[in-house]
Amino acid sequence: MKFKFFDEINSTNTYLRRQLKLEEFEVIVAKRQTDGKGRRDSVWVSNEGAALFSFAVEDNTELEEKITIFTGYVVYEVLKKYIGNQDKLTFKWPNDIYYEDKKICGIVCEKVRKHIIIGIGININNTDFGMFRKKAISLVEITGKIHPVQQIIEEVVSNFENQFHSLNKDWEHILKIINENNYLKGRKIRIKQRNGKFSEKEYRFLRVDRKGKISLISKGDRDELKFASLEFKIV
Ligand code: BTN
Repeated sequence: MKFKFFDEINSTNTYLRRQLKLEEFEVIVAKRQTDGKGRRDSVWVSNEGAALFSFAVEDNTELEEKITIFTGYVVYEVLKKYIGNQDKLTFKWPNDIYYEDKKICGIVCEKVRKHIIIGIGININNTDFGMFRKKAISLVEITGKIHPVQQIIEEVVSNFENQFHSLNKDWEHILKIINENNYLKGRKIRIKQRNGKFSEKEYRFLRVDRKGKISLISKGDRDELKFASLEFKIV
């Protein structure tokens, strides 16, 4: 594991995406980002005190769809250690970590040529979330204590690196943890349709399946629906 530190950068993901050659597990860490990117072109508010980092792994088609879920699992396991009340920490498909009803971590994975760039933002000692104030939470707000940002980053990347190669073997266990501690468990959702509107129909979350897809069912329907990618809102 190698690190490159920046006080300020546009985005650690953008930085890696622009490199001609990517080195596996070279970790780009920033104190602040001026153009932090979330999934689906959303903004990631990136103030000092947060863990803002990205690294790349070689793309192996067999693992591609599992990597996002796996990253969430790794961060989830690390954060659990720092939080007293672990029941409130959950995984929200496809790649967010929640504490109660607020987001503490977001993950974005991008395929770039032969690599996958993994960008992780964890709210640790930061408390300014701008317009996302109502939806975000940080470790310091949960525990009342300042936490070691660099240590947490190192734990996440080294756990990732150590477990990455046995991902296929451990997949059932990872899925079990992800499904048992799932934010969507027991919740009803409406799904975004092709016309951009949310469905009238309400769906119940069933599980994250072996392919990393979300599996849903609606009242009265016999068959479950599966999606590899989906926009939805909780009712
Ligand atoms: C999301 O929740 O939509 C994903 C957020 C990912 C944010 C991290 S912060 C470090 C890395 N650099 C970025 O620009 N984005 C990711």
